[in-house]
Amino acid sequence: MSHPNPHPVGPILLLDDVADGRMILSALFIVAAGDVPPPVELPGSAVPAVALADYAHATVWRVRFALPADRASSYRWNGETFEVAGDLTGDLRLAYVSCNGEEIGDMDREGSERNAMWSRLRDDHRRQPFALMLHGGDQVYADEVTRGHPLSDEWPDHVPDNPSPEALADLRDHLRTRFFDRYAALYAAPELAWLAARVPSLMQWDDHDICDGWGSLRPSRTGSAVGQALFGAARDSFLLFQHGTVAGDLPGRFADPAGGHLGWTIHAPGLRILAPDLRSERTRRTIMGTGGWDMMEAEAGRAAQGHTLLMSSVPLLGPRMSLLEAVMVAIPRMQKYEDDLRDQWQSRSHRDEWRRVLGLVRDMAQKDGHDVTAISGEIHLATRAVMDLGKGLHLHQLVASGIAHRAPPKGWARFLGALAWLGENPLPGHPIRIKPLPGQRGRYVAERNFLVLERRSGDWDARWNLEISGLTAPLAL
Ligand SMILES: [Fe+2]
Repeated sequence: MSHPNPHPVGPILLLDDVADGRMILSALFIVAAGDVPPPVELPGSAVPAVALADYAHATVWRVRFALPADRASSYRWNGETFEVAGDLTGDLRLAYVSCNGEEIGDMDREGSERNAMWSRLRDDHRRQPFALMLHGGDQVYADEVTRGHPLSDEWPDHVPDNPSPEALADLRDHLRTRFFDRYAALYAAPELAWLAARVPSLMQWDDHDICDGWGSLRPSRTGSAVGQALFGAARDSFLLFQHGTVAGDLPGRFADPAGGHLGWTIHAPGLRILAPDLRSERTRRTIMGTGGWDMMEAEAGRAAQGHTLLMSSVPLLGPRMSLLEAVMVAIPRMQKYEDDLRDQWQSRSHRDEWRRVLGLVRDMAQKDGHDVTAISGEIHLATRAVMDLGKGLHLHQLVASGIAHRAPPKGWARFLGALAWLGENPLPGHPIRIKPLPGQRGRYVAERNFLVLERRSGDWDARWNLEISGLTAPLAL
């Protein structure tokens, strides 16, 4: 039962690509069925919307257009002018957010409490605009979409053996509608909506955009008819709402036009943003498949001047989880937590892949002599780590999460901080150190937060905006 939206949603700006000095954009709209959103107006032209998907009470529309990538500009829609800080050539500011929701009851949370950090980000933009907004995973918490249908009510604990084609079609319809309801509610939140109409977004998914632990669950679940229906509905919704498109029509930044994986890269002046897809090809034994690795190898071999931001939805650097994992395997009750740990690069089952990706990052940095920064969410804490890449180069890992997900207990932050003493050394000669944020004593901060990345005269720094402690001092990258 999709609920009709009283107000149209949009424009939500999504960055399709940067090419020929222009930002290629998609503006997304959700309007009541039968309505048509007005065109996007640019100097000398008006670009009409194209319908992408119909739901019971609403239709999702898109306008593709371009704005300059070397200066600030604006567009008009529905009688309103929207300023866009589109200069990607010189000094610029990027916002990074993750984990925009919670597993249980997110739709029923009180808006101003839920969106307090979005409100702060909006105020920050008003003071000094962001050129882009990066969303690093868990843009939607879909955990509850499986509820309310007989085939998926007990997901993932139990799935039916041989559901009928009719029942499966009904399930697909149920899931599609539930995803719609969530995205429509998220994009209708005034704080996010105001920002998204002015700051182009780039998004990569993590597990909750599908379901908790997707890819780390048993093959009997992910490979089942119900599991595949869930993944299909999540993927269609991801393409539609997070990329403003449908299968077969992926924007130019995607590495695989066929969508076997949904990794993408943006090449802007002095800045590469690399976002591998750690979900589409994931199994209990592998994080990326051949498609994802091909993209990473190709990028490691490419000359890219300036800075590389690697959006890894789960942190690339972290504490020594393998010990904890060994303990959990031995205790049946801890199975769920073992699955959570298996989701991490640091899991014992992904050790070779972890080494491989770190080796690629090292090659990337050494090729052009620039530091690489990995940015991640996922753990609902703020932290950072550094890996020595040799030759005076470093891999910085910045973790910022969540923008709406509340922090776990402080005890968990302290426990992880203690675990960090053990250190980790997956690549011989390149030790990893977990470090406190500027001005913080503990290594993990249990507060909601977002990250601000800033380039001034070619030099990058990062600041976390922490809900209680406020803005940190800048960390040079
Ligand atoms: Fe999350």
